[in-house]
Formats: sequence, C-alpha cells, structure tokens
Amino acid sequence: MEQKHIFLIGFMGSGKTSVAKCLSSMLGLELAEMDQTIEKQQDMSISDIFSTYGEEHFRNLETKLLIELQEKEPMVISCGGGTPMREENIKEMKKSGKTILLTASPETIYGRVKDSHDRPLLEQNKTIPYIKELMDNRQPKYEQAADHIIVTDHKSIQEICEEIKIKINQ
Ligand code: S3P
Repeated sequence: MEQKHIFLIGFMGSGKTSVAKCLSSMLGLELAEMDQTIEKQQDMSISDIFSTYGEEHFRNLETKLLIELQEKEPMVISCGGGTPMREENIKEMKKSGKTILLTASPETIYGRVKDSHDRPLLEQNKTIPYIKELMDNRQPKYEQAADHIIVTDHKSIQEICEEIKIKINQ
C-alpha cells in the first residue's frame, strides 16, 4: 500500500490534536482524531470506555480503527497517546503512512494537561514525577514507531506544523 497518511504520535498533551488540525488545513488533507472517532463509534466517552470495559478493550478499538483508516483517502491522523505501545499498531501505521513523534518535557506536559479530566490514565496521578515515569517507560516504543521527531516545547502550533512540513518534504 502507498505511504499516504500522516500519523501524529506522542504522549498525552504533546499537542497531537491541535497540531493535526493545523497540519490538515495546511496540507489540504482530511483530519481524523482517533479518540474522537472511537467516542463517536462507541457513543461513549474515553473515560467511560476505560471504566466500563477496561483499557485492553479500548486498545482493541484503536487497532480496529487503524485498520479501517487504511481504506481512506490520505489523512492527517491524530493518534491516542498509547497507540504506538502495541507492536501491531506500529506495523499498521507504517503500512499506510509516515509517523511524526511530538515530544515535550514532563513539565510542559503537566502544564497542558493539569486542568483537563478526560485522560483516565492521568486522572489519579497528575504529577510531574508520574508523567516522567510513564513517559520514560513509553519512550522506546515512541522512538521505534517514529519516522520523524519534533520537539514541541516553547513552540507555537504554527511553528510545529511548518517544521513537520519541512521534514515530510525532505
Ligand atoms: C491515552 C491517551 C489518550 C487516550 C486515552 C489513553 C494513553 O489520548 O487515547 O486516554 O494511553 O496515553 P491523548 O494522547 O489524545 O490524550
């Protein structure tokens, strides 16, 4: 299959959703936000899916969605923060596109997520040390999945999009 989609991956609060919106309009591509698509498909919030059916069930929904998206026209796809944790998901993404990893320091992430309540994995643990621990555990998988890496600390959404555009055209 041709390499057509652009997948934005990275930790919760790394800016995937906002950057995907900007990038899709900059490149004239359709936009898909995986969490929002799953919420629509299931008619349930992510928090309710986690609390009712558990994390594994949510992970299965992510894998199923990645496979469904392969049939679509080229898109910018904002993934969930945990999407690249499954080897299978990395394979599915690489089959149909390029992956851009957005990174940010635990301090930056904390500042971005501290007032929201829609991330079940952080809800009871919204501290910089916990964010750092989870991020460190995930980093090898993120790096394994990434075709390109963009550091987002202290950058505007527009700057990040410009950087991505340069990387994908190289
Ligand atoms: C998760 C990240 C969330 C969402 C779910 C699990 C994770 O997406 O998919 O709460 O495991 O990191 P965002 O990264 O868009 O917050």
